[in-house]
Amino acid sequence: MSWREEAKKRAATEAVKHVKDGFTLGLGSGSTAAYAIKAIGRRIQREKLKILGVPTSHQTQRLAEDSGIPLTTLKEHPELDLTLDGADQIDKELNLIKGMGGALTREKIVASATKEFVIVADQTKLADRLGKNQQLPIEVLPFALPTVMLKIQGIGGNPLLREMKDKTGPVLTDNGNFIVDADFGPIGSPEELNPQLISIPGVIETGLFIDMADVVYVGKPNGVGKLQRE
Ligand code: 5RP
Repeated sequence: MSWREEAKKRAATEAVKHVKDGFTLGLGSGSTAAYAIKAIGRRIQREKLKILGVPTSHQTQRLAEDSGIPLTTLKEHPELDLTLDGADQIDKELNLIKGMGGALTREKIVASATKEFVIVADQTKLADRLGKNQQLPIEVLPFALPTVMLKIQGIGGNPLLREMKDKTGPVLTDNGNFIVDADFGPIGSPEELNPQLISIPGVIETGLFIDMADVVYVGKPNGVGKLQRE
């Protein structure tokens, strides 16, 4: 296993210590969250924990089922105890860019429903400014795409429709929408950019997660760092 995979696994192992018996959990998407989901499954089996999970993507749903995590929905549990998820970029204030896996809208909804939001990542995800060498994923209603692209350019972004890798055509999210990856360069004020984007008709959600993460576990080659929101 590469150092990065080891680091992701180490971060996930620390985060899973937040899980307690009786918890309802938001289950994030991506390769680092996957380590956490597998570890939760092992704890359920070993410690006979009563846990219910709300998955943030079809992929996570399948992994949770395979890992023996009983599932629920936001209809049954509109408030969750804890959510564990990954991130694509993390700044010093624990603001995040998420969505390279395309699950950003469900991830943000689940994160907003949770009492504690814990992020797992390896150290390559840390950045002094969000947007530096990192595009911002934005979920867009297909009907609105051309107009949304123009408006993103109008506020200084360089938008690119995300295409499938193995066939031709745009990537579709679990909600049936497109993903636009917008390059803004280093983002001066994520707090100002996010409402500007959200106010464009046809933008469903952005990958900017501002003031949402409570704790970030950062996997490093020789250990795990813990960052906490003040
Ligand atoms: C998916 C996400 C993921 O959490 C993010 O892409 C990180 O994934 P990975 O842990 O595989 O690097 O936001 O929408």
